[in-house]
Amino acid sequence: MSKENVLKVENVTMQFGGVIAVDNLNLEVNKGEIISLIGPNGAGKTTAFNVITGVYAPTNGAVYYKGNKIIQNHPQGKMKKLYRGENPVTYTGHRALAPTPDKITAMGIARTFQNIRLFKSQTVFENILIAKHLRRTSNVFTATFRLNAREEARMRQEAEELLEIVGLTDVRDELATALPYGKQRHLEIARALATQPELLLLDEPAAGMNPQETLELTQFIGRIRDEFGLTIFMIEHHMDLVMEISDRIYVLDFGKSIAEGNPEEIRSNPRVIEAYLGGAQDE
Ligand SMILES: Nc1ncnc2c1ncn2[C@@H]1O[C@H](COP(=O)(O)OP(=O)(O)OP(=O)(O)O)[C@@H](O)[C@H]1O
Ligand SMILES: [Mg+2]
Repeated sequence: MSKENVLKVENVTMQFGGVIAVDNLNLEVNKGEIISLIGPNGAGKTTAFNVITGVYAPTNGAVYYKGNKIIQNHPQGKMKKLYRGENPVTYTGHRALAPTPDKITAMGIARTFQNIRLFKSQTVFENILIAKHLRRTSNVFTATFRLNAREEARMRQEAEELLEIVGLTDVRDELATALPYGKQRHLEIARALATQPELLLLDEPAAGMNPQETLELTQFIGRIRDEFGLTIFMIEHHMDLVMEISDRIYVLDFGKSIAEGNPEEIRSNPRVIEAYLGGAQDE
């Protein structure tokens, strides 16, 4: 069976001044997979997500989505001089591609954040509805002033259906911040789903959850992958979740990828045990 590539990260380096947060990262995520990115605190995991979602333009390298190059480093000579990675620079003579995060969302890539980012003074339903507007089909005039009534009705209907699917209908009219922490995490995922992504990036979805909540989340992630036909790329520290759900795992340490494999291979990889599993399991 041939694999259909959804995300490809190619030679991506992200520097902040002298800090190389991501160092020549290469990885691939194929259609329908659940892939995890693990590694110690400060390894560069969130930075990798920030490059993929257009928050930062990478210092070097490129990102492909469904076979198309969507992000490419800036070609300025300044960057070339600053670059401290070991890989040959790929700056010269090409056009930079640096779409903004909203453009990336519109392409079909949605994400959640390590620190929950919900609209705090809005209800659960409104949080979903606002996200729906991020992928509207109306033109800029109707979007700015008033959506046409039919489209607005359709979005409201879709938002209701989504609440039903993710099991948040009973808290529909509560303020997002009034929800227990675990439900807020579910709502954040539901809000990402509202933009109708094909690729969903989750940054520590189980952060702060107890074992029972983590188990429920694991089942939830598996279920939405199947139900929405998603491809999922996830950063997570809870090893039970990662080992249970991942098709493959990439391990980052000091910005570099030190291992890749299925859960069994990662569990028994000496470099991984040394860099990560030995010290910081299930914190
Ligand atoms: N905007 C920024 N400016 C400067 N340095 C940054 C910036 N963002 C991240 N870094 C640095 O890059 C490195 C990687 O950070 P990152 O947040 O990607 O790690 P992480 O793997 O997500 O860690 P954690 O598990 O703690 O979330 C850290 O040294 C961090 O301080
Ligand atoms: Mg992080």
